[in-house]
Amino acid sequence: MMHTLKSKRELEQIKKACRVVAEVLATLSSELTEGMSTTDLDNRAYELTLKFGAQPAFKGYHGYPATLCVSVNEEVVHGIPDGRIIRNGDIVGIDFGVSIDGWFGDSAVTIPVGSISKEAKQLVETTKECLDRAIDCCVPGNRLGDIGYAVQSLAESRGYGVVREFVGHGIGRALHEEPQIPNYGKKGSGIILEPGMVLAIEPMITAGSHRVKVLKNNWTAVTVDGSLAAHFEHTVAITDQGPVILTDRSAL
Ligand code: MF3
Ligand code: CO
Repeated sequence: MMHTLKSKRELEQIKKACRVVAEVLATLSSELTEGMSTTDLDNRAYELTLKFGAQPAFKGYHGYPATLCVSVNEEVVHGIPDGRIIRNGDIVGIDFGVSIDGWFGDSAVTIPVGSISKEAKQLVETTKECLDRAIDCCVPGNRLGDIGYAVQSLAESRGYGVVREFVGHGIGRALHEEPQIPNYGKKGSGIILEPGMVLAIEPMITAGSHRVKVLKNNWTAVTVDGSLAAHFEHTVAITDQGPVILTDRSAL
């Protein structure tokens, strides 16, 4: 199912959930320092979620055990917080979602810790740029494939890999709704984007091969070749006025 927003009121409701996601990610980003563990981050996220009157969206989802996904360095997505200590030079992907009154928001950011390598910095910046370019495509009349094309063409032009096994998704009354949003694709292909659609767009980009494997905990995805990966995600509403980034942190 895909839920298309039907009123200003529905837009306000999903905005509320997305605003909490933005606030919590902004706080976690500012507090993250070397020496903290991924579990410390998860505990803090849980506490903040409840303080904002929201419910964690990932905890319990298909048995997922935590509030956050924290994916460090070669971990691509769905890293389970497990006490791993965050070190100077790490890049730390934090993926977070909540619901309020049955409305969902989902966003992710990759944060550099201390001084990171030039290679890591360029990967993180490109992945962020891939998301920005994808969001620019979220205009009524464009097509779903335009989003994947935007991500893939930029990432591959810089020699990076585009993860295929995980995709973005519609979001609204559930964490994952239709359509699936691959980070690769053909311009002008796929469904037409319409006002009221809400999409969680989430490029996952690797410094080496795009191939990933899932660890024995059945969740954490890592690059097969051990290369670095980065991940950014926003929940975006398509409107007649263009894209609205519901999980935007820049105006907080
Ligand atoms: N943003 C990720 C996604 O949409 C996080 C999901 S974690 C899960 O796939 F535990 F909820 F699956
Ligand atoms: Co998502």
